[in-house]
Amino acid sequence: MRISRRHRYGCIPKEIHYPTRRLEGKVALITGGASGIGESTARLFLKHGAKVLIADIQDELGQSLCKELGTPDIISYIHCDVTCETDVQNAVDLAVSRYGKLDIMLNNAGIAGEDELRAIASEGDNFRKVLDVNVVGGFLGAKHAARVMVPAQKGCILFTASVASLLYVGVPHAYITSKHAVVGLAKSLSGELGEYGIRVNCISPHGIATPMLFKTLKTSDKRKVEEIILRNGVLKGTILEAEDIAQAALFLASDEAKYVSGVNLPVDGAYSINNQTWKKGLMEDCIAE
Ligand SMILES: NC(=O)c1ccc[n+]([C@@H]2O[C@H](COP(=O)([O-])OP(=O)(O)OC[C@H]3O[C@@H](n4cnc5c(N)ncnc54)[C@H](O)[C@@H]3O)[C@@H](O)[C@H]2O)c1
Repeated sequence: MRISRRHRYGCIPKEIHYPTRRLEGKVALITGGASGIGESTARLFLKHGAKVLIADIQDELGQSLCKELGTPDIISYIHCDVTCETDVQNAVDLAVSRYGKLDIMLNNAGIAGEDELRAIASEGDNFRKVLDVNVVGGFLGAKHAARVMVPAQKGCILFTASVASLLYVGVPHAYITSKHAVVGLAKSLSGELGEYGIRVNCISPHGIATPMLFKTLKTSDKRKVEEIILRNGVLKGTILEAEDIAQAALFLASDEAKYVSGVNLPVDGAYSINNQTWKKGLMEDCIAE
C-alpha cells in the first residue's frame, strides 16, 4: 500500500520548519480552566494559536481570565460542572458552534477531597464525590468530545492525572483511586478511539503550588508550598510549575505528537520511579552511629 505524504507526515510536511504557533487553527476545551494548571494551559494554548473554551464552576474567575486574555472570538468561558452531563454536552456543543470544531479536549477539572488519610475514618460520600468529579467528570468530557471527534476522524483527548496515578504518595485513598482510574479510562479510550484517529493521553504532575494544594496544605503561602515540594522531590534545583504541565499538554496536543497515544506522561522529576526510603534510612542510620 502506498502511503501518501499527508499520512506519513501528518500536517507537517518534512521540509517545513516546525511552527512557532504549534496549535494554529485548533480548538481546545479545557475543564477546570479557570485556575492553576488549567489556567496556565489556556494561556499557553492561546499563545500557540488555539481558540480556547474554558469550562469551570468558578464563573467570576473564568470570566475575568477570558477578559484578560482576549476577545470571545478566540477565548471564552462557560459554566460547566463536569459531574453534570448536560453541562458537559453544552460545553462541547458551544465549542463547535462558536469555533467550528473541537480538536483538543483537556479533562483537567479535579478535586482532592477530604484530608483524612485513614481508610477507617474516611467517609463514603467523600469517596463518591472525588470519583464523581475526577473520574466520571473526565469520562463525560471524553464521551462528548468523542461525539464530535469521531465524525471528524481526528482529535486529541487529554487528562490531568497525577503522580498519585502511579504509586501511593500519602494522600487520601479516594484521590489515589480516582487518578489510577483516570489512567485506566485513558488507556481504554485510546484503544477504542484510535480507530477514528483520536489520540488519548494523560499527564501526571508531581506537586504544584496551585489553589488545590494550598487547600490540602492549609496555606496559601506559595513559597512555603514550593519549599515543601522541593524538599520532597527527587529532582533538585528546580520547581515544578503549572506552566510546565501546560508545556507537556502543548506537546501532546500538537501535531508533533501525532503518533503518541495511550501514554501516561509523568512530569514528576523521576519521583515515581524512585524509592528513596532505603537511602534515607541508611543516611539516618549513619548519622545515628
Ligand atoms: N496541584 C497539584 O499538586 C496537582 C498535582 C497532580 C495533579 N493535579 C491535578 O491537576 C488538575 C488541576 O488542579 P490544579 O492543581 O490546577 O488545582 P486548581 O484548584 O487550581 O484547579 C482545579 C480547577 O477545577 C475546577 N473544578 C473543580 N470541580 C469542578 C467541577 N465539578 N466542574 C468543573 N470544574 C471543577 C476548579 O474550580 C478549579 O478551577 C486536577 O485534576 C488535579 O487533581 C494537581
